[in-house]
Amino acid sequence: MLIDTTAVNQSRRPFDDNGDIWLFGYGSLIWKADFPFLERKSAYIEGFERRFWQGSHDHRGTPQAPGRVATLIPVEGAVCHGMAYRISEETLAPLDHREKNGYLREVTPLHFADGGQVQGLVYMATEENPAFLGPAPLETMARHIHEAVGPSGPNRDYLLNLAQALRELDVEDAHIFALQAELERL
Ligand code: SIN
Repeated sequence: MLIDTTAVNQSRRPFDDNGDIWLFGYGSLIWKADFPFLERKSAYIEGFERRFWQGSHDHRGTPQAPGRVATLIPVEGAVCHGMAYRISEETLAPLDHREKNGYLREVTPLHFADGGQVQGLVYMATEENPAFLGPAPLETMARHIHEAVGPSGPNRDYLLNLAQALRELDVEDAHIFALQAELERL
């Protein structure tokens, strides 16, 4: 279901100063950084795995035929690698719009690959959101991604761009690479 989390996200203001914010990206925010940022660094968060379990009704699919995009699933002991961006608070407004189909701003400890830790923000789409699709067999997910297309382009570009960006970051992600291999077999 198409939803809009913009208003609820704008009320989620976890930092009371007007300073910069570190945002952790694990999906399209890794390879499509079309927003202003002050610096970026390879980073990871703990306790989550990246999964193509979120429906996309507004970017990589339509309300009638949603695509599948990445979200984070809690898994004890897991580590999810991605990219952290230092942004100013105004940048959250366009990001809230981009992530409005089910993603909520959450605060997370964020570890930089080169050392150090800060409290950061991450957009997460939990299983409670109406656009959540959940798991499916790999081949079903790959076929779904192969076929879906939305206003931001083919769903498969999202997956292929993410897989390439993770390889460039030297990140191993078995789920993403298995899904990519399945997609490329189609
Ligand atoms: C993210 O990339 O961090 C959130 C999900 C997305 O926009 O693809």
